[in-house]
Amino acid sequence: MNFVQRNYYAATQSANTMKTYKMIDGMKQEYDRYTAEDFEVWKILFERQMKILPAMASAEYLEGINLIGFNKDSIPNFTDINTVLGKLTGWQIVVVPGIVAEQDFFKLLSQKKFPATTWLRKMSELDYLPEPDMFHDVFGHMPLLTHQIFCDFFQNLGIVGVKYSDNEKITAMLGRLYWFTVEFGLINDNGEKKIYGAGILSSHGETKFSLSDAPLHLQFNAETIMNTPYASDKIQDKYYVIESFNELYNSIETIDKVVEKEMVMASR
Ligand SMILES: [Fe+2]
Repeated sequence: MNFVQRNYYAATQSANTMKTYKMIDGMKQEYDRYTAEDFEVWKILFERQMKILPAMASAEYLEGINLIGFNKDSIPNFTDINTVLGKLTGWQIVVVPGIVAEQDFFKLLSQKKFPATTWLRKMSELDYLPEPDMFHDVFGHMPLLTHQIFCDFFQNLGIVGVKYSDNEKITAMLGRLYWFTVEFGLINDNGEKKIYGAGILSSHGETKFSLSDAPLHLQFNAETIMNTPYASDKIQDKYYVIESFNELYNSIETIDKVVEKEMVMASR
């Protein structure tokens, strides 16, 4: 779940018509309401991705899948996920009805909370989504929430986002950074590129495409990314590759500097 995805998932609609949802306090996953079709959809999507991800996803993500205990036969139960995440990194999943506003999103991240939907796409729309469902939110995002350094980066991004949530330009710059890392990031793993971005990991087509020779693979640079608009209505033409999650975490310092520079320039 995230605010920038409204564009990505609304590829066939205008981003302006995409709806954001108000947070509902105390919303819960109603596990008993999942149907046989929901379980089948989860199984198909899980198996299809896990056939290719062991060779394509980052070691940290794959380790997260094991730690969090995802499997093909059961739709993940948020209570169980929260128990695991609580012990490992202190993060928690908060149920939301759909895409939330930027301010809510950053605030949640700053509090080590990740907003997720609980509904699954239908069998007839396995590869098309009008907006992110729980396969994206859960399978794509949650395994890395077991990884402390990634979580520290994510929380700090939220903290900066809260601080500047009334500044549209800075919010857009942070959105780009979020887009090219948390959603569409690649990592160098012993000389091989691997995937850690949730937008890729939850998309069968983009998983294969992202590591192919077709798109550009660029060295990660936070300042460059913050000034690089992304294409939200089509598959990515470039991906940024980090050397390690430490590099990602250390980029917080650069993010702070870029934001401060922007504020100085704006005040002139
Ligand atoms: Fe997402």
